[in-house]
Amino acid sequence: MERRPFIAGNWKMNKTVGEALDLVRSLKATLQGVEDVEVAVAPPFTALYPVAQELKGSSIFLAGQNLFWEEKGAFTGEISPVMLKEVGCQYVIIGHSERRQYFGETDESVNRRVHAALHYGLKVIFCIGETLQEREGGVTFSVVERQLEKGLAGLDAPKVETMIVVAYEPVWAIGTGKTATPEQAEEVHQFIRRKLEKLYSKGVANSLRIQYGGSVTPENIYGLMAQPDIDGALVGGASLKVESFSRIVRFREI
Ligand code: PGA
Repeated sequence: MERRPFIAGNWKMNKTVGEALDLVRSLKATLQGVEDVEVAVAPPFTALYPVAQELKGSSIFLAGQNLFWEEKGAFTGEISPVMLKEVGCQYVIIGHSERRQYFGETDESVNRRVHAALHYGLKVIFCIGETLQEREGGVTFSVVERQLEKGLAGLDAPKVETMIVVAYEPVWAIGTGKTATPEQAEEVHQFIRRKLEKLYSKGVANSLRIQYGGSVTPENIYGLMAQPDIDGALVGGASLKVESFSRIVRFREI
C-alpha cells in the first residue's frame, strides 16, 4: 500500500508573527506544484492565525504544537482544541519529547490530549522516542512500545488509521546534529508498525504513516526516506529556513 510521504516543520519557540509570515510566504512560492508529498508547518500559537490566513488556497497544512484537553475554562496559559480548530489547524503535535522532558508530560497526559484532539477533529502527530540512556540501556523497544500503548490507549482502529501519524524521534537525535542512521531508524519504525498490527490490524499498520524526527537535513533525508517504513519527517531546526525545508520536502529531486 502506497503511503503518501508527510513532511512537517516543527518551528518550536521560534518566529515572531512577522518572521512567520515571511517564511510561510516563501514556502508557499517554493513548494508550489509539489503534490506527491504532504506538507505541514507548526508555528508557535501566536503566529497560527496570521499563518492560516496566508496559507489559504495553498496545500500546506497547519499544525498546533500542543493543546490542553479541556474545551475552555480556568487553565491559565493553555490552549484548547476548539481554539486550534478555529484558527485553521488540521493537525496538532502531541507528546513531543520537549514537552515530556521539560513540561512534565506523561504517557497519561499525552493520552488525554490525543483523545481531546480527535474528539474535536484534529489529526495528531503523535511523538514517541527513547532517550540516550534508554538506548544505551537496551530498552529502546520497550520504551517505544509503552509510549505507543499508553499514548493511544482507548482509541479504536478506524480512528488510529485515519487520524494518527506517529513520529519516531529518538531524543538523543533531536537538535544535536546526531541523526539516527537510516538503518537505526528503520529498525524502530519496523518495530512500531508490527506493534500497530498487533494492537489494531494489518490494514491500520500498513496505512498509518510513521515520520522520523531528529536532526533531519537536506543531506540525510533521502537516505531516511529510502527505508521502507519511513514515511516522512518531523523537522525542527531545518524547518526554520525556506531553503533547507523546501529541499527536504523535495527530497526526491536531490
Ligand atoms: P530537530 O528537531 O530537527 O531540530 O532535531 C526535531 C523535532 O524535535 O521535532
